[in-house]
Amino acid sequence: MPTHPVLISSDQIQKRIRQLSREIRSHYKNKDLVILGLLNGSLFFLVDLLRHLPDRLEIECWRLRSYPAGHRQSSGKVEGLKEGHGNFKNKHVLIVDDILDTGLTLSSVKQRLTELGACDVKICVLLKKKKKRQRPITAKWSCFEIGDEFVFGYGLDYDGYYRQVPEIRTLKV
Ligand code: IMP
Ligand code: MG
Repeated sequence: MPTHPVLISSDQIQKRIRQLSREIRSHYKNKDLVILGLLNGSLFFLVDLLRHLPDRLEIECWRLRSYPAGHRQSSGKVEGLKEGHGNFKNKHVLIVDDILDTGLTLSSVKQRLTELGACDVKICVLLKKKKKRQRPITAKWSCFEIGDEFVFGYGLDYDGYYRQVPEIRTLKV
């Protein structure tokens, strides 16, 4: 992997997750919380974050896709929203995703959760890109803000590969 420089090391990631989990724990104290992980990208982030959260919460996962195979640009459509299951009525939902880019995925999921009766929906992402969003959406918690580069590792893929690379690297082609 030496051609693809490390942007964020795995130590930095774990340290930041511990900080963030403290804020999340105190925010949701005494609330009925559902964590909704968006797969596949949040796979590692979700698990590592959950290790620092209390036992009394529900976990749901939806499998979504906005990038067609082999692309580094969002297709503009989010697939898999209707299949999403779980009971969200009157629940506080925390969506956990890998990255906030155009905002299309997270705004679509947020809207779907509101339709399903969630009383409060917040967002927690590993990364957020600095660029202007196509949808007006913000993440209450984010581990790191990055530039407009394409990154992979720690759950994020390039063309379906490299998700299990332990750190976040910038793709150089
Ligand atoms: P959005 O709907 O444009 O905000 O995109 C969200 C999804 O795009 C993320 O969940 C990722 O799967 C994917 N994505 C956006 N930027 C990157 C990147 O730099 N590397 C890998 N995947 C990315
Ligand atoms: Mg994703």
